[in-house]
Amino acid sequence: MIPELFLFITLAFIVLFVTSTVIYSTVKLGISPMPSSYKAYLAMMKLADETGTGTIIDMGSGWGNFVIPIAKKYPQRQIVGYELSYLPWLTSTLLKKLLGLKNLTLYRQNFYKADLSKASVLVCYLFPEAMDKISKKLWLEQASVNFVISNNFVLPLWQHSKVIRINDFYKSPVYLYDISNSEHK
Ligand SMILES: C[S@@+](CC[C@H](N)C(=O)[O-])C[C@H]1O[C@@H](n2cnc3c(N)ncnc32)[C@H](O)[C@@H]1O
Repeated sequence: MIPELFLFITLAFIVLFVTSTVIYSTVKLGISPMPSSYKAYLAMMKLADETGTGTIIDMGSGWGNFVIPIAKKYPQRQIVGYELSYLPWLTSTLLKKLLGLKNLTLYRQNFYKADLSKASVLVCYLFPEAMDKISKKLWLEQASVNFVISNNFVLPLWQHSKVIRINDFYKSPVYLYDISNSEHK
């Protein structure tokens, strides 16, 4: 009885710890680590196919639902993820190690402070205020970013070059911005 009770209490603490770290990050960052839907993920992968061979950065890589498959698909391409929420970052880091993905780098850092000088493509599934800040960061830093792929939210100040409307209830958009060839509004 005593070992079972001990096991139960330990498990309850682990579940409580895991839940509270995710809730804490969600409140602090303004967004949960919910992954893109499967249909949106397919659209993002399709748009990524049109972006050449440069470094892809996922701004908020969550549990790794985008960065891991794309790092597997393009072993010659550098893939980077920034994620502040501890448990999603830890999970994706363990998966990266398990799968031996040498072209994937995962930082537990704030993407607003990220060095974008070597980035070619930014991938986002965020919220309007975050897209606003990213747009300003791109403009102010005159970053070398060529493309932005955004699931569901527009990138203010830029004109998208392509949009895929996924086959869900809302016909949700996934945008491609060709930053190097588009007019800044
Ligand atoms: C909705 S999830 C998207 C996950 C993944 N990119 C996808 O499409 O499946 C957004 C992630 O961004 C992370 N995030 C939000 N603000 C951040 C910041 N300033 N720096 C790093 N990560 C951040 C959140 O913790 C969350 O995991």
